[in-house]
Amino acid sequence: MDAIRTRRSIRKYKPAPVPESVLKEVLNAARLAPSADNAQPWKMVVVRDEETKVRLAVASNGQKFIAQASLVLVVCGLPDEAFQTVGGYMSSHVIDATIALDHLTLAAHAQGLGTCWIASFKEDKVREILGIPEDVRVIALTPLGYPDETPEKSPRKNLEELVIFERYQ
Ligand SMILES: Cc1cc2nc3c(=O)[nH]c(=O)nc-3n(C[C@H](O)[C@H](O)[C@H](O)COP(=O)(O)O)c2cc1C
Repeated sequence: MDAIRTRRSIRKYKPAPVPESVLKEVLNAARLAPSADNAQPWKMVVVRDEETKVRLAVASNGQKFIAQASLVLVVCGLPDEAFQTVGGYMSSHVIDATIALDHLTLAAHAQGLGTCWIASFKEDKVREILGIPEDVRVIALTPLGYPDETPEKSPRKNLEELVIFERYQ
């Protein structure tokens, strides 16, 4: 609960590198995430190369801070490996990749690292930069590095607005 309460989206990073052992720990948090039918239909691309990070920032509609972080993670979903009928109608790859990244962001925060979910990006451009095949979808990116800011907490709806007991209507 402490990590959940105190995590923030970080949009300013120090250049300090993320040690291998710490990176492995946060990637492992993603690995341990649950997934539909335990299919684990996702991959993460770890990008350290400076030029590639800048290109990813440009592909993320010019969100420059992304390239500031020591590394950038690109989370991909594998529709062909996913459970196909969540609720009888949808593939689980977006859900599964999302849970994995959420695990990672919390583990990163617990290690003193910052992240920021990035969903504003051009999939075709990210695909081209990283050589991601057509049958793989780009779900989200995040910078990963040491925070150079301590943002205030942002507001959340009250539980009463979010939770319904017994019947929706
Ligand atoms: C799916 C998703 C997409 C997001 N995309 C972006 C983004 O492209 N750029 C950005 O700066 N923040 C992005 N965010 C961060 C949200 O703005 C942020 O989580 C929200 O304002 C709450 O703030 P907090 O994370 O500090 O609690 C995204 C968050 C989520 C969950």
